Amino acid sequence: MAGTVARDAFGEVDGQAVERWTLAHGDLRVAVMTYGAILLRLDAPGRDGEKANVVLGFPTLADYVAGNDPYFGAVAGRFANRITDGRFSLDGQDYQLTRNGGAHHLHGGARGFDKRVWAAAEATSGDGPAVRLVYRSPDDEEGYPGALDLTVTYTLTGDALRLDYEATTDAPTILNPTQHSYFNLAGEGSGDVLGHRLRLAAGRFVEVDAALSPTGRLAQVEGTPFDFRESRPIGGRIREAHPQIVIGRGYDHCFVFDRPASADRSILIGARVEEPGSGRVLDLRTDRPGVQFYTGGFLDATLVGSGGRVYRQGDGFCLETQTFPDAPNRPEFPSPVLRPGKTFRSRTEFAFSVSG
Ligand code: BGC
Repeated sequence: MAGTVARDAFGEVDGQAVERWTLAHGDLRVAVMTYGAILLRLDAPGRDGEKANVVLGFPTLADYVAGNDPYFGAVAGRFANRITDGRFSLDGQDYQLTRNGGAHHLHGGARGFDKRVWAAAEATSGDGPAVRLVYRSPDDEEGYPGALDLTVTYTLTGDALRLDYEATTDAPTILNPTQHSYFNLAGEGSGDVLGHRLRLAAGRFVEVDAALSPTGRLAQVEGTPFDFRESRPIGGRIREAHPQIVIGRGYDHCFVFDRPASADRSILIGARVEEPGSGRVLDLRTDRPGVQFYTGGFLDATLVGSGGRVYRQGDGFCLETQTFPDAPNRPEFPSPVLRPGKTFRSRTEFAFSVSG
């Protein structure tokens, strides 16, 4: 197999050892730790061959444990994004989840998957070096029904970082995991991403209220700052006084991929981001129905990043593939329900290349 896998000790959380796994293949190199299944760094070459770490992060494990509110690099779940009032019903049973995002449930609760130590093992894949991370979420954790077994495999294929999710449960539950990396293709800590060009294959987005909870309406992007169907700079319309831009402090919205019904579960290129200076290009491929595009509006210059620089609003963008927020309460949204005897399987890839 081409590529290499290395593992080293990365400290402890609550007496549990944390490991860092480093995968290298072709021109790409990533480091992932077992705390939160967090992607710590991703090195990719630019047009001139020079490598840069293109994901935001903290300098030390202690920083992640103390202040991972931004969810840098984490796998968020059980249900990433918001569930209104933290409430939902399933099979006639009412459930109350932790309310940790104002009145709402956000990213799996006070101690979601991003704040747990996962077990790790090298995975065998013909496509490149891989690490398999496993977490068992007990029944009632953060209020969720059913014990859930989740495996997330990070594989470095020749040109992409691939995430494969696989989960089973012992009782009916809900699941909506995502990867919450903040990217800056010019290099972490190098400034804002407003000059990056984005193409997003989405004609609609999930409209939200002032507390970022879905109104239930899927708004059309046509004629609004949310229209990225043709490639254009992220910052081009980010200062327009569109009510949804004001609520999101920029973009903090779930976009609905345009997907022919026949391609319902297949993987497609959902987004392309290009950084003109370095030439780095990121292609997002996924089988998920939506993606939260977030421009880091809550980064407020109070966090020092892995490279020793302060992060400000707009210094990174997230493309969090998922079903839509509040889906457990909205039967018209793609269902997040997982039942015993069924296996949840999903794939998202972040592919890197350079443009001339
Ligand atoms: C949410 C933001 C939130 C951020 C960090 C994003 O996925 O949409 O509203 O501030 O995560 O928690």
